[in-house]
Amino acid sequence: MSIQEHISLAQYTTFKIGGKARFFCSVHSEDELVEAVRFAQEKSLRILVIGGGSNMLISDKGFDGLVIRMNIKGIVSSGEQLTIGAGEVWDDLVAYTVDAGIYGFENLSAIPGTVGAAPVQNIGAYGVETSRLIVSVRALDTQTLKCVELSNSECTFGYRDSLFKHQKGRYIITSVTFFAYKVGQVHIEYKDLKEYFKKEIEHKVTLSVSQVRNAVISIRAAKLPDWKQWGTAGSFFKNPIVSQKKFEDLKKTYPDLPHFVEPDNNVKIPLGWILDKICNMKGLKHGRVRVYEKQALVLVSEPGATADEVTSLARILMDCVKEKTGIEIEGEVEWVN
Ligand code: EPU
Repeated sequence: MSIQEHISLAQYTTFKIGGKARFFCSVHSEDELVEAVRFAQEKSLRILVIGGGSNMLISDKGFDGLVIRMNIKGIVSSGEQLTIGAGEVWDDLVAYTVDAGIYGFENLSAIPGTVGAAPVQNIGAYGVETSRLIVSVRALDTQTLKCVELSNSECTFGYRDSLFKHQKGRYIITSVTFFAYKVGQVHIEYKDLKEYFKKEIEHKVTLSVSQVRNAVISIRAAKLPDWKQWGTAGSFFKNPIVSQKKFEDLKKTYPDLPHFVEPDNNVKIPLGWILDKICNMKGLKHGRVRVYEKQALVLVSEPGATADEVTSLARILMDCVKEKTGIEIEGEVEWVN
């Protein structure tokens, strides 16, 4: 395994933004990963692991440590479980399961990123979260340099949240084991899917996982920018979750405010709606970065854009939401500097 120096990170992120890594390597096995972590520990370097680079904003100054590009591949199918290397592309896994007639992954179609990144922020879309599909996560414990198998409950998943965010830097995911059930039911309760399948629902048609995958791909294509063409990291912020009382107060000022009651009775509010309908931010431009015209939760960058430009625009959105609603919003995207 070779360790390179002064490698530009812009090419490894979907924002196409970021300075240089002091050291950089690509790992293809758990042994190479251990070797890389040892190198960093001997030199007292910070470590940044990147998969698809689709959920991070790397500073223009770059990263003054070791960047490890996760490239451990492999798909092992055993009975009703699938074990997938952390470096596999997430949507390739979804396509594989749909072709095999496996239930559960179809709503998570077309999300950029890798399998190893999915549990970290418990990716979710169209009413389904990855945590529902996970049996266990295998990871290198950087404190002992041994691999451990963490059960679903040990991963303490939450909304865009997990153990891997709370014990930052401790574990590096090497593979994920998923449930692979060939019998099941599709989930089309989310508003967009319900509308898409209006006729089928009316006529009680049984939908296949492949029909749902195709629907999700087309809904996403219509609402989200193509990350192969534009710089973007998808939803830039998390949807805020507020107390019932706070929601009731907001509703007095904004009677149309959409909302979803969470199992613990707190209320999740779509930030895209606030940014669009209350703050009127769609299309707002700052330098070479703008708020996407079709979905206000998404920031889009043009070639040559900088992390500073993204941060300044994000700050404008955060300030507006705070001023109009009193809510302090948090990034879904990870800021790296
Ligand atoms: N809305 C607006 N204006 C906007 C954007 C949204 O009025 O500019 C309204 C919509 O009409 C809808 C509501 O806000 O009533 C929610 O919008 P949407 O269904 O597009 O979902 P979201 O809450 O913005 C979340 C995830 C997405 C995921 C979608 C679909 C977060 C932070 N984002 O977005 O995930 O694809 O639901 O399930 O939870 C991602 O993580 O990168 C991502 C794209």
